[in-house]
Amino acid sequence: MTSHSEIAASSASKSAKPVSRRTFVAGAGVVVGAAVVGATATACGTTAPPAPALSPPSNAPKGALAATADIPVGGGGIADGVVITQPVAGTFEGFTATCTHAGCALSGVRNGLIECPCHGSKFRLDGTVEAGPAEKPLKKVPFRVDGDSIVRG
Ligand code: FES
Repeated sequence: MTSHSEIAASSASKSAKPVSRRTFVAGAGVVVGAAVVGATATACGTTAPPAPALSPPSNAPKGALAATADIPVGGGGIADGVVITQPVAGTFEGFTATCTHAGCALSGVRNGLIECPCHGSKFRLDGTVEAGPAEKPLKKVPFRVDGDSIVRG
């Protein structure tokens, strides 16, 4: 009696044919092409990891989103669906972390711009559009600075 693995091995060896140089080169081209597509997708930011989430300080009041000290001047971060930026020292802005193009979740703030991973839109730290396809600015979120915390509402 023949085992299942023997049948598979036998079948595989019968179907194995010598590979011509032309077939081998064509197959190698497909592999290289797939690698280039993968590298391009990464370069476009479509596979960028999400930004580390901000969190409130341990002594924060109810509704706190983040510690002011964790929001860099000229940068920002995302906390509980809110993008918080600090365009200039001591001035904070808050926006929904949802792209105005097609509603994707924004991925974070890098090099002074708020980024959307879906189609590449970028927003300035004041929420206005730097690069489309988004055409509308980010929606503002009401917040206040309470001590060393950014508090929603
Ligand atoms: S959903 Fe953000 S760029 Fe399209």
